[in-house]
Amino acid sequence: MLTLGIETSCDETSVSVVENGKNVLSNIVSSSLSLHKKYGGVIPEIASRAQLEFIYPAACQALTQAKVSIGDIGLVSVTYGPGLNGSLLVGLSFAKAISFAQNIPLIGIDHIKAHLYAPLLCQKIGFPFVGLVVSGGHTSLFLVKDFDNFTLLGQTVDDAIGEAFDKVAKILGLGYPGGPLIEKIALKGNPEMRFSCGNLEKKFDFSFSGIKTAVLYRVKGQGVRVKQEYKADIAYAFQEAVFDDIAKKSILACVMKRTNSLVVGGGVACNKRLRQKLHTLASTHNIKVYLAKPEYCLDNAAMVAGLGYRLYKKGMSSRLTLNTEPT
Ligand code: KG4
Ligand code: ZN
Repeated sequence: MLTLGIETSCDETSVSVVENGKNVLSNIVSSSLSLHKKYGGVIPEIASRAQLEFIYPAACQALTQAKVSIGDIGLVSVTYGPGLNGSLLVGLSFAKAISFAQNIPLIGIDHIKAHLYAPLLCQKIGFPFVGLVVSGGHTSLFLVKDFDNFTLLGQTVDDAIGEAFDKVAKILGLGYPGGPLIEKIALKGNPEMRFSCGNLEKKFDFSFSGIKTAVLYRVKGQGVRVKQEYKADIAYAFQEAVFDDIAKKSILACVMKRTNSLVVGGGVACNKRLRQKLHTLASTHNIKVYLAKPEYCLDNAAMVAGLGYRLYKKGMSSRLTLNTEPT
């Protein structure tokens, strides 16, 4: 069965054709990122206008690259939340129109859960597993017993991890999006400075706003001109602190929930230092870490198509009255 996946939750417009939930025939990603750069963050109004402009060409390209026609598609799988409402509405309306016109089933997908499907696109992973989502909008730990059985173990109580990277990069004057820029500059950092994430009441929750403020005070303490070397030291210390916290809690969740599989998704999972820390800590507990290729860690429609197919096979589908759920 061929599934057409549609993902428009933020600034990426992505359309994908996936066969039987795992064989990615095409995965087109258009982004309005360049339009947001000068503002240092995504502007919802600009993002939704770009979605409208990009969606049809992206869909045509996805079909062409997959060498199929719209008549070959058996299911439309679309992100209906969470995300920016204007952006979500474009993808959902487009998906509904295809479902109605082609008379094929529609399935609405939760964006956070779709991120955890990304590593499953290219490998078989048995249930149950602990799922860690580290993205621009979310930092969550789940116990996943099946494609439709997710239990939230913990989440951020303030900033998401990707958001913290973006804000710290802004404080350091590095640009947007901050994640890859911090990762790059941290390679030159000295391991002398230390930050910490602090303790929370619930052991699987996260908090990143305190460390962001600590970075701000360090930078302010340097006066007007902050040396490049000092920025690198800060980036290094920030990354170490947040990734140690994430790795420690993820592995603890696996131990406590008695599973030796940790599945990781979301844009921040592109970070090589995070990957390294997760693998190192996991190996001491005999836990296997499953990660996707970087292009499937970032927002993409292949993961949406894949999860949609699995849920459809379990008997689920959505009505044309389905609405967006931005939060
Ligand atoms: O999953 P994603 O594409 O979008 C959301 O669903 O939010 O994640 C985007 C986030 C951004 O905050 C970006 O700074 C972060 O992922 N990111 C990274 C890296 N690449 C992207 N963070 C740390 N290191 C990276 N290499
Ligand atoms: Zn995402």
